This record gives sequence, C-alpha cells and structure tokens, in this order.
Amino acid sequence: MLARFSPAAAQAAAPLVVETQHLSLVLAVGDNHRLYQRYLGPRLLAPADYARLAGGHEAYVSAGLDNLFEPAVGLTHADGNPSLELLFVDAQTAEPSPGVRTTTVRLRDPQYPVEVLLHYAAYAAEDVIKTWTEIKHQERKALVLNHYASAMLHLQAPQYWLTQFHGDWAEEMRQQEAPLTSGIKVVDSKLGARADVYQTPAFFLALGKAADETSGEVLAGTLGWTGNFRLAFELDNQNDLRLSAGINPYASAYTLAPNTPFVTPEFIFTYSTQGKGQASRNLHRWARRYGVLDGTQPRLTLLNNWESTFFDFNEPKLDAIMADAGRLGVDLFLLDDGWFGNKYPRSADNAGLGDWQPTRTKLPNGLGHLVQEATKNGIKFGIWLEPEMVNPKSELYEKHPDWLLKLPNRPEDLSRNQLVLDLTNPKVQDFVFHTVADVFTQNPGLAYVKWDCNRPMTNAYSQYLGADQSHLYVDYVRGFYKVCERLRQQYPHVPIMLCSGGGGRTDYGALKYFTEFWPSDNTDAAERVFIQWGYSNFFPALTLACHVTNWNPQQSLKFRTDVAMMGRLGYDVDLAKLTPAELAFSQQAVKEYKRLSPVIWQGDQYRLRSPYESNQPVVLYVAADRARAVLFAYNLHTRFHETVLRVRLQGLDPARRYRVAETNLVPGTTSRLADQGQTYSGDYLMQVGLKVSDDEARALTSHVLELTAE
Ligand code: DGJ
Repeated sequence: MLARFSPAAAQAAAPLVVETQHLSLVLAVGDNHRLYQRYLGPRLLAPADYARLAGGHEAYVSAGLDNLFEPAVGLTHADGNPSLELLFVDAQTAEPSPGVRTTTVRLRDPQYPVEVLLHYAAYAAEDVIKTWTEIKHQERKALVLNHYASAMLHLQAPQYWLTQFHGDWAEEMRQQEAPLTSGIKVVDSKLGARADVYQTPAFFLALGKAADETSGEVLAGTLGWTGNFRLAFELDNQNDLRLSAGINPYASAYTLAPNTPFVTPEFIFTYSTQGKGQASRNLHRWARRYGVLDGTQPRLTLLNNWESTFFDFNEPKLDAIMADAGRLGVDLFLLDDGWFGNKYPRSADNAGLGDWQPTRTKLPNGLGHLVQEATKNGIKFGIWLEPEMVNPKSELYEKHPDWLLKLPNRPEDLSRNQLVLDLTNPKVQDFVFHTVADVFTQNPGLAYVKWDCNRPMTNAYSQYLGADQSHLYVDYVRGFYKVCERLRQQYPHVPIMLCSGGGGRTDYGALKYFTEFWPSDNTDAAERVFIQWGYSNFFPALTLACHVTNWNPQQSLKFRTDVAMMGRLGYDVDLAKLTPAELAFSQQAVKEYKRLSPVIWQGDQYRLRSPYESNQPVVLYVAADRARAVLFAYNLHTRFHETVLRVRLQGLDPARRYRVAETNLVPGTTSRLADQGQTYSGDYLMQVGLKVSDDEARALTSHVLELTAE
C-alpha cells in the first residue's frame, strides 16, 4: 500500500496557481488529500487572495468511488476492481521557454500502483492554458481505461451559454448558441479518421449571459485530436458546470500495459472578460507562436487545377496551366488528384488510390518535368496526396489486402469508392511515410503538399490489432501522428495543407505538423463568409486556405477574390477562360494581397459585424504595431433600400491618425466610398466609425479598405 499521507503535505497547503497575464486556474489539496479546483477565472489582483479560496470540485474526478457525475478518468484494475482514488503526491513547475510555465501535478491511488499526471502549460502573454493528462501504472497485468479525459474544468455561473459549430460536407462550421440546461450536453464525433465535419471540437462557453464579440465572460476551448472527440458539459444539481474534454471513449476501452504511459491529447483554452473577439485573438496569437507549424512565417499563394480540370488533364494541359500561374503571379502551382496509377489509372475516383506512381499516359515525363516547367515559369510546384486511403481497384489493394480496415464476415463499405488503410499497423505507417517522403526524394523541387483524407471510418476493423479492436480509433490517430513526426524530422518546413474532403481535419493536434487547412469544398463566396467566420473563432487567418473558384460564377470575380483574401489566397479557376480585364484584376489582386497579407496573417482580428446578425458583415485585421489595418466589408443578400450602416472599428491607436484607402478595386473603376482618401483619428474611427459601403449597396458586393497610420 502506498502512503496515504504524502510527504509533500506542506507543499499541499499552498494553492497551486496556473496563471497567465489575465487568467488563473487555482488548485489546492484538501484535507482528504484529493486535488480540488478552487477557482477558474480572471486573475485576482492580490495573490494572497488565492489562499482564501475554499471548496470547489475535485479537479480530475475518478470513477468508481463516491463520484455521482461525469468522471474524467475511469478504469478497471488488473484484479477487476473498477475504482480509482487519486491523491496528491507532488507538483512541479518549470519554465521551458520565456513566457511559458508548466505545472505537473502527480496524483496516485493509495491502494493500487496507478499514477495520473495532470499537465498544464500556461502561456502568459497569450492568456492560453494547454492541459493534458498522463496515466500510467505498475500493476502486474494490464488494466483497462474506460474514460481518459484530457481535461476537466469546473465553472460556476447563474447561466451557461454554449456556442457550438456543426455542419456537413460543404456546410461546415454553422454556428449555434443556446443556454445549457441540467444534465449533460455532449458534442462529439465518431468518424475515426478525422475529428469533424458534423461537429467541431471547439466551442465558446459564456458565463452568466450570452457573450458577444466585445462583452461577456467566455471560455473558448478546443481539443487537439484528429479523431473521435468528446466535449461534455454537465450541469449538476447545484447549477455548477463540469466540463470534460478528450478522446471519445466510445468503443475505445484501452488496455494499458504496465509502465506504458497513456498520454491524452491536449485541450487548449483561453478565458476572456471582453467577449468572444478577445478569446479568438488569444487563440490566434497562441496558435501562430506555438500551435501551428511555422505560424509566424509567410504562406504561399497558389493556383490549383482541381476545379478547372478534375481528373481530365495531361502534360501539355498542365504545362499551359503552369504558364498561366506564372502570368497570374502566384507563388506555386498545386497539382491535385488524378496524376497517379498505371495498372489502374486514376481517371475517376474509383481507381488508382494507393498506387503513387505518375500515370505514364498522362504524364510521360513524370513529375520531374512538371517541377522543371514550374521553375521555368518562376513558380514552385506542389502536389496532392491521399496516402491513408486505397481504392479496391488498385495494385496496393491487390498486394496488401491485410493493410485495410475491413470487417470480417461483412461486405466492404465503400465511401467515395475507397477504404481506409490500417494506420495502427507499423508497416502501413511505413508505407504512408514513404509515399510522401519518396515524392520529395524523387522530386527535390517539390515545395508543397495537399494531404487529403476523403472518408471517415465505417465497418472498421483492424487486421493488425487482433483482440485489441477497441484500440483502433486511438491508435489510428497515433499512427497518423507518428508518420507526421517522421516526415517533419526529414522535412521540417515544407508547407502541407490538411484537407479532409473539406473541413474534416481542422484541429490543433494535426496543425502541429501542418501549415494550413482546407476549410470546405464549398467555395461559393457568400457561403465562405460564414464558413471562414466560423473557423476564425479558433484559427488564425493564415491557417485557412481560401481559393477563388467558379463554384458560383454568378458572383463577381471581385467579390470572390475579396472573400478569399481573408485567409491564405489561392485560385482554382481556368485562367484561360478569364477575360483580359478579369486576368488584369486577378494579377493586381495577387500583388495587392502580397502587400496586405502580413497584416491579415499576423495581425489581430476583429470581427466587427457578424453575417449571422447582419447582411453587412465586416472583419478587420490590425497589425501588432497598430500602424496598418485591413478591413473587409460585404453586402450579402441586400434588401430593397437597405440602409448602409456605419461600423465602429476596434483595435486602433486612438491617438494616431489613419488614412483610409479602398484597395483591390477593379481596374478602371474608382472608389465610391464617402471616406475614400480621408484621414481620421483612431479615436474617431472607433467611436464614430466608417461607412464601409456606398449608399447603393448591391447584393454580393465587397470592399477592401486599407488604413495606414500617418
Ligand atoms: C477533396 C478535396 O476537398 C478537393 O479539394 C479535392 O482535392 C478532391 N478531394 C480531390 O479528390
């Protein structure tokens, strides 16, 4: 039996404070030696006040003893005992880098050799806390983990308003907000090879009353995991809220061998007393610095061929497209799906997936020729891969039937004519790694990858895991991360887009390895205003790949371009079909974007008017030094005689004067904005505001304004 009374009892008396500039999470050890969360909220001014906090709820609640609500952790010991008690052992803090402070709290069961480490990393300037858990044991045999949340947090408020984001293919990130009622509200997914598409692992929780962009107390949280997730919000009999976030334990009881730590994914959260806008800006700053690969570095503008050719292309056609890309002025050409497969050429989505050799009939000179041709046109070359998937019509399927996720005694359940490879199997991990690495080795000029993942898991069964089928959902994602880890060791900085048939993979678990993600296949610009608005709540603009396409050719090219400029700009149109005037506008837009993008990518974002509340949404990006700002204003489905509203800006320096200039105008037109060319103080712009449209606002039009401090 382990000591019930910790030698660290003295340490236990003082509260453990995990804090950032404006946020505190206070933990303390109770007389019963369990760990309690005493407080979570705005940082208190007097540190001495922390010692006065009392009560609270057990910080990381275990199942099987006296707990009557949702547990954070639950397990069955090797002897069949289904209970766990967690008592405080010790806590350690460290400062791995300036501005980042980690706290690790060790808890242990007094009867069984099971240890739980609660990890917290506090990012002072960004006001973000990242938390995750490690569970390990030294029992003589394996134990079974039934619940293993990354985080549990407790909140107390008269009311709780949850904003969640749901959707489907091409309608991602639809926002819904509602008060929580007693009982458990669960937001989760069971898609296996991706986290989202129906539900997103990110939320706002407003306390007391619904928060808006500039007011209200709000916790914003998101789970970094590219698979099944579960966010549970339980309102108890005392009106206290227990939030748990982690891998979805659905069908995932995990048999844990002795001395093998189970490390959960990270839960990332921030807390704002000034509404959702500040919460998002905190997450954006954190993400650029710590959460996204190369988040402080520039992104590449590109031309993609998917929507202009689909599978129907050959070498001369691609050469011509690359010449067009050079003329357009973008940085890179991205060759999409359809370039591979010989025995089963990929001329539709029903064949070739898994056979990553260029189709000789389409590309007789291989990818090497395309890389060279790109270079000739002064651009870089990137390529589409979907390395985790296989078509039954492929050589890979014929050679390695044991590499598929496939239920015995059941028919194959195809989706988009494909199956998922079994990434729990190290041989498959090797295959996926080499699929990507070999393209780089064979084509040293390759500068970008779009990594697709077009289906969730169904009828899933691993031929590798044998009796441990309930490890599949967890080990698949871990297998995926292992491959990413290996790739990043070899290619630390090549930009890679995370794509999942639209927005199925948009999470900070994967963004450690990826530079951006594809928010949606839906590139109708009016729809994108909503979709990008949704993602902007949690992800900075430079992570959102936004392309000008012909999804809705009724919309003007300017409107489509302005919307795509709010992220990482790309094109997916047949440039040969543009009129000379349209091409000239696009060439100018690319140049304009290069000038504006540092502010869009690295600036602070202010969502000034929501498309959910207004026909005239407005988003502003302000550079860190407040010397420049870029504003995007839209007229969506404008009504007859609709009044054009002023918008009050935010984030400027009130004492400085800013010159207002409309930019990205169609060549040959001039601005009709009343404030064009005017200079105002930041104070005026924030108190009085600007009219960001002319008075004859027409539906589906847009304006981009640049503000420059004098
Ligand atoms: C789904 C992606 O979202 C599209 O952009 C495109 O790459 C196709 N897959 C290709 O199959």
